[in-house]
Amino acid sequence: MKQQPGWVLPNLREAQKRTHQDSKIEKALFSIPAQCQGVGQGKRYYLRTYGCQANERDSETLAGILEALQFQPTEDVQEADLILMNTCAVRKNAEDKVLGEIGHFKHLARQREDLVIGVCGCMAQEENIVETLLTKYRHVNLIFGTHNLHCLPELLYQVMVGHETCVEVYSKEGDVIENLPVRRFGRHKAWVNIMYGCDKFCTYCIVPYTRGKERSRRMEDILSEVRTLKEEGYREITLLGQNVNAYGKDLGIEGGFARLLEETAKIGIDRIRFTTSHPWDFSDEMIEMIAAYENIMPFIHLPVQSGDSEILKIMGRRYTIEEYRTLFDKIMTRIPGCAVSTDIIVGFPNESDEQFEHTMEIVDYCKFDNAFTFIYSPREGTPAARMRDNVPMEVKQARLARLNERWNSYALEKNTAYEGRVVKVLVDGPSKKNESAYSGYTETNKLVNFSAEGAAAGDIVEVRITQARTWSLHGELVSREK
Ligand code: SAH
Ligand code: SF4
Ligand code: F3S
Repeated sequence: MKQQPGWVLPNLREAQKRTHQDSKIEKALFSIPAQCQGVGQGKRYYLRTYGCQANERDSETLAGILEALQFQPTEDVQEADLILMNTCAVRKNAEDKVLGEIGHFKHLARQREDLVIGVCGCMAQEENIVETLLTKYRHVNLIFGTHNLHCLPELLYQVMVGHETCVEVYSKEGDVIENLPVRRFGRHKAWVNIMYGCDKFCTYCIVPYTRGKERSRRMEDILSEVRTLKEEGYREITLLGQNVNAYGKDLGIEGGFARLLEETAKIGIDRIRFTTSHPWDFSDEMIEMIAAYENIMPFIHLPVQSGDSEILKIMGRRYTIEEYRTLFDKIMTRIPGCAVSTDIIVGFPNESDEQFEHTMEIVDYCKFDNAFTFIYSPREGTPAARMRDNVPMEVKQARLARLNERWNSYALEKNTAYEGRVVKVLVDGPSKKNESAYSGYTETNKLVNFSAEGAAAGDIVEVRITQARTWSLHGELVSREK
C-alpha cells in the first residue's frame, strides 16, 4: 500500500494512549464550506449501519449531514450515488460480513465511475482493516473514522469533485462535538449520547481503541436535547454510553449518572432507558433513582461476561462473581419486577470446563430476561489477543449452544409469568402485513405483539398478555391512551 499525500491513516499505538489532558467541547465545529453546499443535489445515499447504538446514533448524524448537503436517502443500493457503510469491529464475524458486502459493490463501481463507496465507523479505526481496504478493495474511495464525522462535507467534496480517494482517520483520544445536524430515524423513540469512548480496557475489547477516551457531554447540553425531544413529541429516550456509570467523572460531577438520571426524569418525558451500565461502578444512588422515578424504566442491561471470578479478573472486568450477585440481588430487592439482560462471552482463552460451568451457574441464579451470547473473538491490539488459547473451536461452539438453551428456558419462564397481566406498551406501529396487528415494548423492554383497531404509533396503551413465547409476548388491547 502506498501512502498518498493528504491521507491520515489509523495508528494503533496512538489509539492506545490516554493523556490527562481534558477533552475539548466544541460547539461550532460543523459548517458546510461554500464549495460543498448542495454537493448532494440530485443524488442519493444508501447508508448501512452495523454494531451498537453508538453507531445507530452516529448514522443519524451522518444522515443529518448528508441531507444538509441535499442528498436524498435510498434503500436501493443500485440507485445510490453514495454508499456509506458505518461499521463495527467488535468481533471478527461482524467485520467479515461487512467486507463481504463491500466485495459485492465492486461490480457496481465498475458500472459507475462516479460512485462513491465510503467506509466509516469502528472498522475504519483499525490499522489492519484500512490496509486491507486500500490494497484489496480498491473500489472503496472514502474512509473516515469515528472522530471526524463533522468533516464529511469536505471529505465528500474531495472524492466527488476532486476524484481522489480520501482517507482521514484520527487515532486520538477525541473531543465532544455539539450541534451536529441529525436526522432521527425514530419518531417516538430517540437515542441521546451522554458520553463517548471507553477507558475500561477490558482485555478482549477493541472499543477503547476505536472510540477514544471516556468523555462526557455537559449536563446542560444533554438536558436541553431531552427537553427538545419531549417538545417534539418523543415519548422515550435512551441515554447512551459504553459505560454510563462513568458519566461526568471527567467533568468532576460527583455522582454524575445518578444526578443526570434524576434531572432527566424531572423533565417528565414518558420513558427513560439507558445503556450500557457496567457492574463495577453501579452505585446505590443509581438504583435509588431507578426505584424512585416512574419514568425511569425498570430494565437494566448488566453485562456479566463470565460467571467465573478468575476469568473476570483476566478479562479486566474489576468485579468478582460474588460482587455481581450482590449487585443483582440489591437491584431485584429495590426495584421489584426489574428486568435484567446481559452479555456473555464463552471460550475466552483457556476457559476450562469448570469455569464455563460457573457461567451456567450465574445464568441459573439470575434467570436473565435476555442475553447476548458470543464466542470470544481475538481482536488485534488487545491484550487478550496475545494470550495462548487451548480451547478448540468445537468446544466453544458446544458451550455456546448449551448456554443458549439454558438462558432461553429462563427467558420463556420469565415471559410466562406475564400471562394474564395487563402491561403498558409503547406502540411502535402496525405490522406491515396486517393492519390490526401491532407491536411495541413493555416498560421492562419485552416485545409485545397484539391485536387492536386504530391504535397509533407513539401511543402508550394497556395490553393484556394472553400468551408468552421465548422472544415475545402476545396479547390484546385493554385501553388506549395512558
Ligand atoms: N460497553 C459495553 C459493551 C460493548 S461491546 C459493555 O461493557 O457492556 C458489546 C458486547 O460485545 C460486550 O459486552 C461483550 O460481551 C462482547 N464483546 C466485546 N468484545 C468481544 C470479543 N473480542 N469477542 C467476543 N465478544 C466480545
Ligand atoms: Fe469494551 Fe469493557 Fe469498554 Fe464495554 S466496558 S466497551 S466491554 S472495554
Ligand atoms: Fe461495534 Fe464500535 Fe459499537 S466496535 S459495538 S460499533 S463501539
